[in-house]
Amino acid sequence: MFNVVVLISGNGSNLQAIIDKTPKDYRVVGVISNNPDAYGLQRAKHAQIPTLCINHQEYDSKKDFEEALLIATQKFEPDLVVLAGFMRILGERYVHAFHNKIINIHPSLLPKYPGLNTHQAVLDNQDKEHGVSIHVVTPELDAGPLIAQGRLSVKETDTKETLISRIHAIEYELYPKVIDWYARNKITIGEVAYFSYLD
Ligand code: GRF
Repeated sequence: MFNVVVLISGNGSNLQAIIDKTPKDYRVVGVISNNPDAYGLQRAKHAQIPTLCINHQEYDSKKDFEEALLIATQKFEPDLVVLAGFMRILGERYVHAFHNKIINIHPSLLPKYPGLNTHQAVLDNQDKEHGVSIHVVTPELDAGPLIAQGRLSVKETDTKETLISRIHAIEYELYPKVIDWYARNKITIGEVAYFSYLD
C-alpha cells in the first residue's frame, strides 16, 4: 500500500476528505500537527490513525523544530507527505529529505497570491476567476511545480465566506484525486492537470 503522512495545523477538513475517499489506492499512516489544539488531530483519532504533535513553540529554533518534524515524519516511512492546512514553512533540510514527495494545496491560482489572505485579494482586485492549486513543495513558499489546478468563476455576490466554501468543495475533490495519482505512479513533474469549475 502507498503510505501517506498528512501535516496539519488546524481544522483538517481536507484531511477528512483524504481519509474519507473511497475507493483509494493509498492509506493515511500518520497525522502530524504543529498545533496541539488542531481539530484535525481529533479527526485522525476518530479514524484510528496515529497522531503526533510537534509543537513549534517548544523548540528554540526553526532548525530544531524542523529536525524534530523530520524525525517524526520519517518514523511513518511515508511514500508521500501531504500538507493540508499546515501553517509552517518547511526549509531545505526537510524538503530535500522527501525530494518531490511533499505536496501542498493552496487556495489561489498560483503563481497568483502565494501566502495568506488569498480570498480577500481576489475580492479586492475584482478578479473574475479564483481557484485551487496543488503543487510540489520546495523551500520557496507556494512556488514549487504545479500538479493540478481547479478554476472557478467569482460571482458578484461572492464574499470571503462563500469563496472559502466554494474553494473547499473543489479542494475536497482534487486533493484525494492527486494523492491517488501519486499512489498509482501517474504523476510527471512538470505536467499540470487543469479542472474547470467555471460557470
Ligand atoms: C485549505 O483551504 C488549504 O487550501 C489551505 O489551508 C486550508 C486548510 O483547511 N492551505 P482545512 O484545515 O483542511 O480545513
